[in-house]
Amino acid sequence: MSNTDTNAARSRYSHGAITFHWLIALAIIANWILAHYAEDLPKAEHERLMGTHVAIGMSVLILSVLRVIWRLMHKPPPPNPEHKAWERLLAGLIHKLFYVLIIALPLTGYLMVQTFTGGMGIDMFGAGQFPGIAMAKDKPASELFGELHEVISYVMAALLALHVAGAWKHHLVDRDGTMGRMLPF
Ligand code: HEM
Ligand code: HEM
Repeated sequence: MSNTDTNAARSRYSHGAITFHWLIALAIIANWILAHYAEDLPKAEHERLMGTHVAIGMSVLILSVLRVIWRLMHKPPPPNPEHKAWERLLAGLIHKLFYVLIIALPLTGYLMVQTFTGGMGIDMFGAGQFPGIAMAKDKPASELFGELHEVISYVMAALLALHVAGAWKHHLVDRDGTMGRMLPF
């Protein structure tokens, strides 16, 4: 391996990229679990937990918009030269899709609630309101956004399984330092 290659293999994502990555990843995984856990609970408890679900989800939406703007202004580190061409291609495709879905998933949730309530603001953990969009109630549109929200959540889970399998394969089998590029320590 040449000197430049060694530097590329050792290069890491910046603190900004790492902070966005883990904040958004943890919030999405927690929100996925929360929505499914809340499904079979009695109505009052279900509504309380879904209140937390929408507030976490709107935080993901805000963070994701900031992350995309930030990413367009900052270059990621060079790819690890030990990765094969197909690995680079697959990982790149999954990363691009992730950038679309981390916005599309909470956005469909927001639009589902907007069309269902006729533009109600979203309570953000009791600290303030995320504004609603003034509109008439539209049940069919709300059902459509609900379907989209569910489908996107499953596509996201499938991508996450591939993404995590890739990360652990590089860590445990190839031992090529890929995981360390995105870890805060
Ligand atoms: C829903 C959760 C997650 C999302 C949306 C997500 C998204 C992303 C994105 C978009 C990138 C590319 C960053 C860029 O180039 O701008 C990335 C990189 C990375 N992610 Fe995740 N991620 C998630 C969860 C995880 C988890 C649980 C792990 C570890 C087990 C992980 C490990 C990594 C690693 C190691 C990289 C760097 C890959 C490289 O250097 O090529 N991610 N992730
Ligand atoms: C990015 C984070 C989010 C994730 C990972 C997520 C995930 C999920 C999942 C897995 C479900 C269950 C799907 C089903 O089987 O029907 C769900 C339901 C739901 N989500 Fe989200 N969601 C997110 C953001 C949001 C946002 C921002 C809102 C609204 C502002 C929202 C509103 C809802 C509602 C109202 C339901 C219940 C739908 C129903 O009862 O049919 N979600 N979400």
